[in-house]
Amino acid sequence: ARTVKLAVIPGDGIGPEVVAEGLKVLEVAAARHDLAVETTEYELGARLWHRTGETLPDSVAAELAGHEAVYLGAVGDPTVPSGVLERGLLLRLRFDFDHYVNLRPVRLYPGVESPLAGATPEDIDMLVVREGTEGPYAGAGGVLRKGTPHEVATQDSVNTRFGVERLVRFAFAKAAERPRKKLTLVHKDNVLTFAGELWQRVVREVGAEFPQVCVDYCHVDAAAMFFVNQPARFDVVVTDNLFGDIITDIGAAITGGIGLAASGNINPGGTFPSMFEPVHGSAPDIAGQGKADPTATVLSAALLLDHLGVPEAARRLEAAVAADLKTRTPGEARSTSRIGDDLAARVAEQG
Ligand code: NAD
Ligand code: IPM
Ligand code: MN
Repeated sequence: ARTVKLAVIPGDGIGPEVVAEGLKVLEVAAARHDLAVETTEYELGARLWHRTGETLPDSVAAELAGHEAVYLGAVGDPTVPSGVLERGLLLRLRFDFDHYVNLRPVRLYPGVESPLAGATPEDIDMLVVREGTEGPYAGAGGVLRKGTPHEVATQDSVNTRFGVERLVRFAFAKAAERPRKKLTLVHKDNVLTFAGELWQRVVREVGAEFPQVCVDYCHVDAAAMFFVNQPARFDVVVTDNLFGDIITDIGAAITGGIGLAASGNINPGGTFPSMFEPVHGSAPDIAGQGKADPTATVLSAALLLDHLGVPEAARRLEAAVAADLKTRTPGEARSTSRIGDDLAARVAEQG
């Protein structure tokens, strides 16, 4: 049997609760396909920061780099100033490990009630390819005259030809593999003219390599609306870091909620470990109560299995989730660990 070395960062809030269930289901699915998962857990997040003032010690970063992949719950805690853990841990991992593709499927599973009247699984099946290392997240900018009436805060959006091109090429390749073969660039080129024109030009140029893919463009504000009233417009969506963050929360909302939305932070070349995590955060409002839905974290493990080249195990895991989602009733209150147990049992029982 092959063994995969997986670094696990449970993180803050509901992170540890959902990761425990994710691992439970992952291990069963992997075992069915002759894959053993060897996990090393890293205690990073609010507790470490309070104890040591560190978010990601260099020695830990180096150890993480020696794993095939990272599985993360969530980071962020109300007792830590906003941004310290988000930037110092989560974004640092995305940047250091060059996770330039932030892959976020938006799918409505059969039986899941969408808040969009009449929406069917055929209507909502998209793949958002969000840029992961640039844009307004890059950390460019600063504050002048802090605390004065003339304070100025700038937060520049960094868009490099190299960074945009490699992401766009990845998105086209994904679109070419899908039945609809449609790619929509989501940006705001009517206002963000410097960056928008670069993205448009790169899409045009790279698109010439993929004549079979049909290309569309949508301003991000209109895209936010179309996600809600015409989601079937979209197949593959390629977009910048911040727009992608926002529209994938909308994507989660229209497909049954943030508790179901999975993501992968991918370093396609494989130089660094890719990282898999739910789209949601640490949900301090429900942490420690066994109320968190672990499904997003479980589905992120399916993305991990795909990344590891074990698609049969990924489909097995998704099938278990699909079957579980069909049994849900509005207002039902299964605990986090109960959902994990049920999913693991389904994976084990499948023929
Ligand atoms: P959040 O996703 O943590 O929570 C938003 C709402 O969704 C809350 O009401 C929460 O209870 C609910 N929710 C989230 N996950 C759920 C689940 N699995 N099951 C059921 N309900 C769920 O977003 P927020 O409140 O904006 O942020 C809280 C903290 O998490 C902040 O510190 C933020 O920076 C951080 N954050 C981290 C990540 C990450 O680690 N990738 C992502 C988003 C936010
Ligand atoms: C996400 C989160 C992160 C982001 C934050 C916590 C840095 O919202 O993964 O969607 O903005 O990318
Ligand atoms: Mn987000």
